[in-house]
Amino acid sequence: MTVKPAILVTRKLPDAVEERLRRDYDPRLNPDDGLYSSDELIELCKGAAGIVPCHTEQLSAEVIERLPGSIKIIANFSVGVDHCDLNAARKKGITVTNTPEVLNEATAEIALLLILAASRRAGEGERLVRSREWRDWSPDFMVGVQSTGKNLGIIGMGRVGQVLARKARDGLGMNIHYHNRTRLPPEQEAGAIFYDSVEELLPNADVLSLHCPATPETTGLLNGERISLLPDGAVVVNTARGALIDDAALVAALSSGKLWAAGLDVYNNEPVDIHPGYRDLDNVFLLPHIGSATRETRVAMGFRALDNLDAYFAGREPGDRVA
Ligand code: DGY
Repeated sequence: MTVKPAILVTRKLPDAVEERLRRDYDPRLNPDDGLYSSDELIELCKGAAGIVPCHTEQLSAEVIERLPGSIKIIANFSVGVDHCDLNAARKKGITVTNTPEVLNEATAEIALLLILAASRRAGEGERLVRSREWRDWSPDFMVGVQSTGKNLGIIGMGRVGQVLARKARDGLGMNIHYHNRTRLPPEQEAGAIFYDSVEELLPNADVLSLHCPATPETTGLLNGERISLLPDGAVVVNTARGALIDDAALVAALSSGKLWAAGLDVYNNEPVDIHPGYRDLDNVFLLPHIGSATRETRVAMGFRALDNLDAYFAGREPGDRVA
């Protein structure tokens, strides 16, 4: 009888994913879904061959260093890997994978939702009705800005960026402008206008959506100087990572009226210590990091993580290896 590899699963995963884990592995599940401290995580890894963590676990160089030698693979349940020190994993000979592709549609849906909600004051409206303070209607009541036909600027035209471009173009007739490290081939560009630099893109973005990974190079990418290059009254949305934004600069631009609104799903220091300015402003539409949170996508993410584990333990190269 072959011994099934023990796998630490840090958070509660969809039932279908846990069922497959039980069938093929010896999983250490977390039915209560509580967040493990780094010490608990290291302790729970003893004798395990792999970990399936989420972006909520900070796998810093120090934590990876302290993982038991039995850990051979970190199969992330996330496309973003900024929570995981890839160099430290490489040094320790640990394979790291992520879950790309399967969350493109869900995340682009949330980006579109943020564009519309921020532009049309959906948060303010919802709060008004819910608070029973809604008393009147008039032609200048809750007037927002239209997205249809406007210019959408996308920074990071990877998988999610491209899906958002398609949805915004086909659904709202938006004109797509983008900056990416490399220009897309014409069939993928589908008429979108490419800019070599962020600075050249910004003046053309009535709405700006961020879609790049958080890395040392992209940290604070949207700072005060760059915000000043956006057209007055622009809308900013972020479904990627909070680290891409200089919060103080964004809050200042939202307070001064330089920007019409923002729609945010991700934050620096989320979930608890996000910039207090966001909570105080009416023209920010706030969501709690739910870009990939559909039933379909969460199962697909789990299966994708398991496909990577399966490949690794079958001696094949995992499809989504990032380290
Ligand atoms: C991702 O997959 O990176 C999402 O942000 C959820 O972790």
